[in-house]
Amino acid sequence: MPPDEACRPLEPGKWTVRALLPQPRSQVDLLAAYAVPDSARGDRSFVRCNMVSTLDGAIAVQGRSGSLGSPGDRRVFGVLRSLADVILVGAGTARAEGYGPARLGDELRARRVERGQSDAPPIAVVTGTGELDGRTPFFADAVEPPIVLTTELGAAAAHRSVGDVARVRVAGANRVDPFRALDELNRLGHRHVLLEGGPGLNGDLVRAGLLDELCLTLSPRLVAGAGPRVLAGPELASPLDLDVVHLLEEDGFLFWRLVVRRRD
Ligand SMILES: NC(=O)c1ccc[n+]([C@@H]2O[C@H](COP(=O)([O-])OP(=O)(O)OC[C@H]3O[C@@H](n4cnc5c(N)ncnc54)[C@H](OP(=O)(O)O)[C@@H]3O)[C@@H](O)[C@H]2O)c1
Repeated sequence: MPPDEACRPLEPGKWTVRALLPQPRSQVDLLAAYAVPDSARGDRSFVRCNMVSTLDGAIAVQGRSGSLGSPGDRRVFGVLRSLADVILVGAGTARAEGYGPARLGDELRARRVERGQSDAPPIAVVTGTGELDGRTPFFADAVEPPIVLTTELGAAAAHRSVGDVARVRVAGANRVDPFRALDELNRLGHRHVLLEGGPGLNGDLVRAGLLDELCLTLSPRLVAGAGPRVLAGPELASPLDLDVVHLLEEDGFLFWRLVVRRRD
């Protein structure tokens, strides 16, 4: 092979998702690969976080994450949404990313309905202030009303701004308590929670010991800057160990599915 051949970049868009771990496989059924484990089917909530990060750890460029992903990342994103009972997101992310209601393609929706789930998961947004805009598509176009998890301090503002288009629940005094938030979702019948960030909310759930899985897309990009990482907030008392369930790849994007190792 001539020397230039050895370092010629691979042509993008030529592959479908393949598995690298635990066993190399040339094709992957994403719904099967991300199926909820049987151990998560009890009464307790199961929390899976999905994030995309650059190689240098940034999860946003100019305040948004959209430019970091890939077609494969968007397929994984859709599959994870289709499996969840509810999507949980911080108000900062919902505002920054211009969240709308979750929408699924025909096939994912059909498979969801076969499993006895609703057409699409509702979205629960966490806000301390309760300052939300009920006229945005997030509220106005939702088939199933969003859930607003707020504080005693933010409850009046939340009821005023979105009380007629959302289910408002108080889950803390001046911060939303992650345990109370999951209890509220559980009471509404939502046990499988897909946490979509942002880093502030992720940090709260991790520090509370409530994260079960992390699905992390590693995007082959570098951006530098001072952008946020997957988790924000104080450093953990000791690093959290994660075990690999699988590692998939497409177009140089890596898709990790990792499970939090329980501490005895
Ligand atoms: N790459 C990715 O996969 C990805 C995913 C998600 C987000 N992001 C990026 O992350 C950035 C947003 O970060 P962020 O830290 O602002 O995100 P965030 O955690 O979504 O938002 C913080 C806000 O959410 C509310 N909040 C979160 N946890 C709370 C709690 N325990 N109690 C009360 N309120 C709580 C508060 O809202 P109020 O102000 O209403 O009180 C707080 O100001 C954006 O740039 C977004 O693009 C990237």
